[in-house]
Amino acid sequence: MRKIRVLPDEVAQKIAAGEVIERPVSVVKELVENALDAGATEVRIELADGGKALVKVQDDGSGMDAEDAALCFRRHSTSKIRREEDLERIATLGFRGEALASIAAVSRLTMRTFDGASDRGTMIEREGERLVAVTDIAFPRGTGVEVRDLFFNLPARRKFLRSASSELGPVTKYVTQAALGAPGVRFTLVHGGRETIACPPVGTLRERVFQLFGGKMVDRLMDVAAEEGPGRIEGLASLPLGGRPDKTVQHFFVNGRPVKDRVLMAALSQAYTGVLERGRQPEAFLFLEFPPGEVDVNVHPAKAEVRFRDTQLVFRLVLRAIGAGVSRGQVVKEVVPGGSGAAAARVAEGEAGYRAPGLAFGPADAEAIGADRAGDVGGDAAGDAKGDAKGDVYRASRYVSPSSTAAAAQAGPAVLGQFADMYIVAADGDGLLVIDQHNAHERVLYDKFREIDREKAWPRKTLLIPPVLELSPSAAAAFEESAALLDELGFRAEPMGGRSFALKEYPELFKQEEAGDIFLSLLEVAEERPAEERRGRLLATMACKAAVKAGEPLNRDKMGYLVAELFRTSQPALCPHGRPIVVRLEKATIDKGLGRK
Ligand SMILES: Nc1ncnc2c1ncn2[C@@H]1O[C@H](COP(=O)(O)OP(=O)(O)O)[C@@H](O)[C@H]1O
Ligand SMILES: [Mg+2]
Repeated sequence: MRKIRVLPDEVAQKIAAGEVIERPVSVVKELVENALDAGATEVRIELADGGKALVKVQDDGSGMDAEDAALCFRRHSTSKIRREEDLERIATLGFRGEALASIAAVSRLTMRTFDGASDRGTMIEREGERLVAVTDIAFPRGTGVEVRDLFFNLPARRKFLRSASSELGPVTKYVTQAALGAPGVRFTLVHGGRETIACPPVGTLRERVFQLFGGKMVDRLMDVAAEEGPGRIEGLASLPLGGRPDKTVQHFFVNGRPVKDRVLMAALSQAYTGVLERGRQPEAFLFLEFPPGEVDVNVHPAKAEVRFRDTQLVFRLVLRAIGAGVSRGQVVKEVVPGGSGAAAARVAEGEAGYRAPGLAFGPADAEAIGADRAGDVGGDAAGDAKGDAKGDVYRASRYVSPSSTAAAAQAGPAVLGQFADMYIVAADGDGLLVIDQHNAHERVLYDKFREIDREKAWPRKTLLIPPVLELSPSAAAAFEESAALLDELGFRAEPMGGRSFALKEYPELFKQEEAGDIFLSLLEVAEERPAEERRGRLLATMACKAAVKAGEPLNRDKMGYLVAELFRTSQPALCPHGRPIVVRLEKATIDKGLGRK
């Protein structure tokens, strides 16, 4: 007896609908995308009972004539692509021609639409698969869709809908994202008669972020942009020392489409290595643009994922944009009187003269800051140092325009002495600085190492009698995985059978007797870190190992050299592991404490 049957159309429709429409937020997403594709300047979203009873989306876009309005509910009916080749160059948010068919199949739906040119508008009422009525109506140009009783005809699905407030959460998140993607469009979200999002049209992303997240957030963000080959990126991202405790504010858009993407998230977290304090996560609103062909958006029925042709390019774009932003503003943590523990920071220096002047690395550099380069920092010039933010205390980092601090940038803090064999005490015109000598040196070396790494120019030494290292099983596995990377960093080891390895080469900057231990530490780091972070973390560990230790007495020249170098780095406030390097005590605070005006 035959067992295979072709499903009745109605059942097939419901199954297909389930792929696209999972819950109220899916309905909102599809309807808002249609509104934006139709060129709307206003999108109003209304929900009742978390969208379970009603989702209504109204736009002032192109609208449809009666014929299109009748056709738009057919599966695979779309005005956005015509032939297969069009899949290669999709410029709209929709293109699958499935959304309205799917929504209609599992709800009671009413659509009103008018294209501004026909004699009159059209109203279409449907119930599940059934067309209930088509009526001529008077309607302003645009489209309004009401979706009632989602899954009324799929009780199994309906049971899985959550409480109104749980369904509302994702909707609010989605509308926030859509509003970020289109600052020029007015967005309104109403739930239970209350406006929860109300964003009039604005000209810039920054203003839109202000509308949605408030002024505090805007103050924590810097503008970022970069371009390479066919790709472009721009947007806003956390200032150094900013960020937040979680990853909830990381928004990515690819060709205008909001996406969740592992590559982008990994690139962002790498870009902020050593730029935020430990435990802080970057905030980001990043918009990437690629020509068609570089990115495939047809990966997922809900279109939430994309695939990049060249993920390395994507990575580089993010690193570049953030890197350039970070090196523009530098911030230093300030001591807050009373010690509330709140991390306050202020801008110490601007851009200008504070970029590392070429690569002046020699092995001597690493040896306890060997080079005796006194006079790099003139105490006389220090008096000129002034930041824009004089006297102000900021909870997060604050960006200062470079122009006003050009003079300050040439100077640097003057060293007063060493305290407890671990801190360098210095002063600039605005106050006292206490600098952690180990963290500071680590930062200086880390920046240099990154530069060397970029040029792939590690000076290395060959061990005439290679020490044989016995590795743990996990370290041996880490070596297998990272041997090539370690080799690029100057460490070459060869298997000797079992888990024994002979260390044949090491980077010249290290002492021969420490090379083996450092190699083992690097393997530990390689074991713990995911591949995309590994290179940065290994460089940070090498910097840590090569840096001067706490407890080492330093002479005045070495301290002067170290402080001058520190303030030329990309981020003098934080060591590459995210620990603070400098605390400062404002003169104003000292004055106040001593009862002076
Ligand atoms: N709000 C709207 N304004 C104008 N036209 C619309 C609107 N919503 C849907 N349409 C038309 O209906 C078609 C089908 O919509 P949909 O099922 O979402 O598929 P897709 O968006 O993938 O084309 C669209 O291609 C568009 O022509
Ligand atoms: Mg659509």
